[in-house]
Amino acid sequence: MNDDAEQPSGRLAIRTLAMPADTNPRGDIFGGWLLGQMDLAGGITAWSRANGRVATVGIESVRFLHPVNVGDVVNIYAEVVRIGTTSLTIKVDVWVERRSQLHRLVKVTEGMFIFVAIDEKSQKRPVPPS
Ligand SMILES: CC(C)(COP(=O)(O)OP(=O)(O)OC[C@H]1O[C@@H](n2cnc3c(N)ncnc32)[C@H](O)[C@@H]1OP(=O)(O)O)[C@@H](O)C(=O)NCCC(=O)NCCS
Repeated sequence: MNDDAEQPSGRLAIRTLAMPADTNPRGDIFGGWLLGQMDLAGGITAWSRANGRVATVGIESVRFLHPVNVGDVVNIYAEVVRIGTTSLTIKVDVWVERRSQLHRLVKVTEGMFIFVAIDEKSQKRPVPPS
């Protein structure tokens, strides 16, 4: 795993590969692509806990700690950290395995995403008890 004291928390929600198509003009992985993947990972986690549709209403914080490179294996972990009346706060962390060092996880990005449970008319609804 990784040499650092910190380990991934939450559940692995998405595991994918950083591709050349996801780069910015400088050839680094585009932050917007990573944010989209984090939104998906948070959405899957929120959907599961809310037992149905959710919508992203806010990103409370995002911190890009290290770059993501083409060829990195991108592991996105997500966990519910707060449940309100209709909202869920999901902690979403991204850990990569570099091509040169597979199986060693490096934390590259951390974020806090807010979702709201919605009904079939896209109106907010209470998060059901677990
Ligand atoms: C989701 C939606 C129906 C919520 O309706 P709303 O009337 O705005 O709801 P509220 O203002 O009462 O907020 C609902 C909950 O979200 C929380 N919330 C809303 N915006 C927030 C933000 N920016 N940060 C943190 N929490 C937020 C509120 O505190 C509330 O939480 P609670 O019920 O647990 O106390 C509506 O905002 C919406 O449709 N937004 C667009 C969502 C969307 O399209 N997302 C995809 C973007 S491409």
